[in-house]
Amino acid sequence: MYAKGMATEPDVELAAVRFVCELFARNRHLSEGPVVCEAPEDTLEAIRRQGIPAQGRDLDDVVAEMEHDVIGYGYNADHARFLGFVPGPTSAISWLGDVIAAGYNRHAGSFANYPAGLAAEDTLLAWCAAKAGFPADTAGGLFVSGGSMANLTALAAARDAMLAAEDWGRGVAYVSDQTHSSVAKGLHIIGIPREHVHAIPCDDAWRMDIDALEAAIEADRAAGLIPFAVVGTAGSTNTGSVDPLREIARVCHEQHLWMHVDGAFGASVLITRYRDMLDGVELADSLSWDAHKWLFQTYSCGMVLLRDRKHLLATYSTHPEYLKDLKDRDDLVNSWDLGPELTRPARGLKLWFTLQAMGSEGLAEAVEHGFTLARWAEDEARKNPDIEIVSPAQMAMLNFRYAPAGLSEQELDELNLEISRRIVASGYAGVFTTELDGKKVLRICAIHPEAKEADMRGTIQQLNAYCAEVLAK
Ligand SMILES: Cc1ncc(COP(=O)(O)O)c(C=O)c1O
Repeated sequence: MYAKGMATEPDVELAAVRFVCELFARNRHLSEGPVVCEAPEDTLEAIRRQGIPAQGRDLDDVVAEMEHDVIGYGYNADHARFLGFVPGPTSAISWLGDVIAAGYNRHAGSFANYPAGLAAEDTLLAWCAAKAGFPADTAGGLFVSGGSMANLTALAAARDAMLAAEDWGRGVAYVSDQTHSSVAKGLHIIGIPREHVHAIPCDDAWRMDIDALEAAIEADRAAGLIPFAVVGTAGSTNTGSVDPLREIARVCHEQHLWMHVDGAFGASVLITRYRDMLDGVELADSLSWDAHKWLFQTYSCGMVLLRDRKHLLATYSTHPEYLKDLKDRDDLVNSWDLGPELTRPARGLKLWFTLQAMGSEGLAEAVEHGFTLARWAEDEARKNPDIEIVSPAQMAMLNFRYAPAGLSEQELDELNLEISRRIVASGYAGVFTTELDGKKVLRICAIHPEAKEADMRGTIQQLNAYCAEVLAK
């Protein structure tokens, strides 16, 4: 490593140590502060105006600027009461693993570059594939940047396995109306026409309706299209629902279709005592699983797992002349042959490090806590007769809305949106809205391992108070 400009290497070392101490001091008290630190407009404007200096500046000034004006603002997604989107309650152990891995900045594209790093990633991928129930002799995968990339990476392999190149334009993939948008985006990127991504309706528990799926496949074949893949979800973004995976597997088997499961959020349940919720996932051809969601890793840490790794090789393997010195050994595969990236960090090492430090049971317990948090929230919500539970606690998710009598649907939407705005603005909790059945609802996704019963009950009580406040106006 070298430092150039005004800063010398010892300056950087000192700044790094100081920063780590300040970071831990901030994190110790994070959940006592607000869930959001809004960036003042003048700070944003000053950054936009600042530009790039031709000469280096004093390092302490630049570090202070970064801490106070750049990284300090935004959603504190690792706050115990940040309950929006998929929160990011990052484990300090993961962070340390990330720092250790980044410290050497090894190129994890090939075994020759980083033999032990890739051996650790491969061992971990095999462990995860075994949790999914994939066969040990064929399964494999890759650490990628997240769920979107995992879905894209798997679906390109699915396309190549199931469709001749001249048929890409007639290929049809099936998702549900609750499938994450990254799936349709990925399908578009790999050349499947947007109108050939068919969203199958869900039942009243937000699970793909299998009769409707079978009818759609039949109709598409009759219209001369070529169905090639069904994407089931294990832990949907809105409600935490799990599609009937075993039934989807049956349809895929009968119809000769690729089965992909988007478990970006919910696959973490595979390491817990709730594993049976994902019954049938072992029959999938591919699975997305994000460790930067419910395994508490720093961004970016997602996995794509295939029941047969050869499909990734078929799609991604390349052998340019300038990489021939680093070719595969018979027993080892270079990660650049398993996905779109050539240069990549060993993203899996922080998870490897976390599991070594916490053990799989420690991590499982932390995941299971999310189920309890959502149940506490539901229990508290049920005490208020004005609350309609729209989707009960599933995994770590709960959806509900305030629905006092006498308001129109539009007024109810406005009420719930305003309640969300008020609680976020108060800084107490991050509860945001989504839409289910055309209704605006409040959605809780609670995965913070250190969140307590009082955080969940207190959040609902605060929401109740904001509801009363809005209604009083
Ligand atoms: C079910 C599901 N799939 C995919 C994604 C996309 O993951 P990422 O944001 O890591 O790309 C998300 C994100 O929340 C998700 O919930």
